[in-house]
Amino acid sequence: MIALNINGRQQQVDVEPDTPLLWVLRDALDLTGTKYGCGIAQCGACTVHLDGQPVRACVTPVTTAVGKNVTTIEGLDPRADHPLQRAWVAEQVPQCGYCQSGQIMSAAALLARTPDPSDAQIDDAMGGNICRCGTYQRIRKAIHRAAAMAKGGKS
Ligand code: FES
Ligand code: FES
Repeated sequence: MIALNINGRQQQVDVEPDTPLLWVLRDALDLTGTKYGCGIAQCGACTVHLDGQPVRACVTPVTTAVGKNVTTIEGLDPRADHPLQRAWVAEQVPQCGYCQSGQIMSAAALLARTPDPSDAQIDDAMGGNICRCGTYQRIRKAIHRAAAMAKGGKS
């Protein structure tokens, strides 16, 4: 058994040590908000946080997460009311939606270290998250909106 801390809860999973974290989340723990896109660290759909740092769960062996805090989209905010989640709704960001949990997790890591990012900082941080629907402009707007909300401005 492997012990993990997922979204603030201790969990035990019975998987091989080299199992990608993504499969543990989706198949063993039924946390299906994290998506499988490419499986080779090229799209960002599987982005989660390990101790607040964004990682690609598809290429992260589950043992890498032992002793760390894993946060998925389900655990980003207890009421799904994170400024980014509200901004995503306000700006109507998603199209098909498939990439969006990974987009939000990357954006959350960005705002945690850079609360009011410039366009260039957003592009730099989000460059590894691919959106086949091309929602990039709305993503950028929503990140600015979330930053303003967090400062107590826009809602
Ligand atoms: S599924 Fe992990 S980066 Fe594409
Ligand atoms: S919203 Fe469809 S892939 Fe991004």
